[in-house]
Amino acid sequence: MDKITAVKGIKDILPSETPGWQKVETTARAIFERFGFHEIRVPIMEKTALFQRSIGEATDIVEKEMYTFRDRDEELLTLRPEATACVIRAYVEHNLASAEPVTKLFTIGPMFRRERPQKGRYRQFHQIDVEVFGDDTPASDAEVIFMLMHFLDVAGVENLSLEINSLGCKDCRPGFSRAVVAYLGQFQDGLCPDCQRRLTTNPLRVFDCKVEACGRIISDAPRILDHLCPECLDHFDRVKGFLDDLNLEYAVNSNMVRGLDYYTKTAFEVKSGKLGAQNSLAGGGRYDGLVALLGGPDVAGVGFGIGMERLLTCLPDTEENVGKTDIFVAALGTRALKFAFKLTGLLRRSGFTAATDYSGKSLKSQMKRADKMQSAFTLIIGDSEMDSGRAVLRNMKTKNQQDLLLESLPEALINILKSEVIL
Ligand code: HAM
Repeated sequence: MDKITAVKGIKDILPSETPGWQKVETTARAIFERFGFHEIRVPIMEKTALFQRSIGEATDIVEKEMYTFRDRDEELLTLRPEATACVIRAYVEHNLASAEPVTKLFTIGPMFRRERPQKGRYRQFHQIDVEVFGDDTPASDAEVIFMLMHFLDVAGVENLSLEINSLGCKDCRPGFSRAVVAYLGQFQDGLCPDCQRRLTTNPLRVFDCKVEACGRIISDAPRILDHLCPECLDHFDRVKGFLDDLNLEYAVNSNMVRGLDYYTKTAFEVKSGKLGAQNSLAGGGRYDGLVALLGGPDVAGVGFGIGMERLLTCLPDTEENVGKTDIFVAALGTRALKFAFKLTGLLRRSGFTAATDYSGKSLKSQMKRADKMQSAFTLIIGDSEMDSGRAVLRNMKTKNQQDLLLESLPEALINILKSEVIL
C-alpha cells in the first residue's frame, strides 16, 4: 500500500524536538508570570466573521490564506490564522474585563495560514501570543516589548534587532493613506497587479509587498511618522523614552506597517539574522478600538506573537539529557517476565524511570537496549534466578555487579536507586 503523508507545509514535531519546545514553553510561562500574565486556552476553530472583522477583509491573510470551510449546518468556520482575535472573543464573551481593570493574558498553540511553504514558513505553525487589555499608556507598550525581549534573551536567542514604528490612529491615519495614494498614483504602472488593486482596497498594504519594483517605489513614499497627530506623536515619543530607560536598543522603521489591519499607534517587530528570508521572529503592537469592534467594551489593547518554529531555529543546538532510564529490567523466561512486569510497575509508581522488554529476546540484545536507553542500572533476571531467589544488578557505568535477594528486591532497589539517581 502507498503511504499517506502529512499535509504540505504541515510538520510533525518529533520526540527529538519536543524537549526544545517544552523548554521554551516553560521559560515563557515562568517569565510571563513575573509580569502578571495568566494563561488562556482558546479554540483553534472560530466563526469566519471574527477574523474578517478584526484582521481586515483586504489583507493577505483574509483574502487568500485562511482555511475556511462550511460546517454541516452551513455555518462558515475558520482555523485560526492568529490568536489575537480569538483571545479578544473569549475576553468579551466571558466578561473578563469585570474581574480586573487591566487583563494580561497569554496563549500558546497552533495557527493556520495557507502560505507558500518554505524554510521558516509553514501552513500550520505555532505562536506564543500575549495580549494586554485595558491599558492605553505608552508604559504598557514598553513593558510588553521589554517582556518580549527579556523572554527571548532568557530563552537564549542572540543577535536580535527590534524595530518600532507608529501607525497612527483613526484621526491621523486616513490623511497618511491619502498621501500614500497620491504618491503611488504617479507610479501606478510600475506597481505589481496586487499593489495596483491595493491602491483602492488597502493602500498601506503596499508597504508589505515583497516585489522588488514595488519596494523601490515605496522607499521614497511619504512617512507615516510625518503624518501623526500630536497625541500619537507624543505617545510614540514616550514609548521610545521608556525603552531608553530600560536600555533596550531599537531602530525606528517607518515603512513597517504589519500585515494585519487592526494596529494603531505602536507597532514592533523582532528580527533575527539567523532566519534567512522569513526573518520576522515576533511582531505585535497596539490595537485600541479592536475590542469594541468585536462587540466588547471600549478598552485599549496591546500584544505580540512569537513564531515558535522560528524561535527554535534561532537557538543554539544543545544536547539535552532527556529520556534517560534509571533501571532496565532484563528478563529471560516466562516466570521472570511476569516478575519484571510487576517490578517495573512498582518502580514507576515509586517515581523511577524503569523499562523492560517483553519480547523475550536474548540477554545480549536486551543489554544492548539498556545501553541505548542510557540506563543507569540493569537488573538481570531469568527463570534460573527465579529458582535461586537472587537477581543480578549491574551498574552500567562502573560495570560493578551485585546479587540481590528476590524477597526484598523492591525495597533494596528503591534504596539503591534513591542514593544514585536524582529524582
Ligand atoms: P504576525 O506578525 O502575523 O502577528 O505573526 C507573529 C509571528 O508568527 C511572526 O513574527 C512569525 O514568527 C510567526 N509566523 C507567522 N506566519 C508564519 C508562518 N506561516 N510560518 C511560521 N511562522 C509564522 C500576529 O499573528 C499577531 N496576532 C501578533 C499580535 C498579538 N499582535 C498583537 N497581539
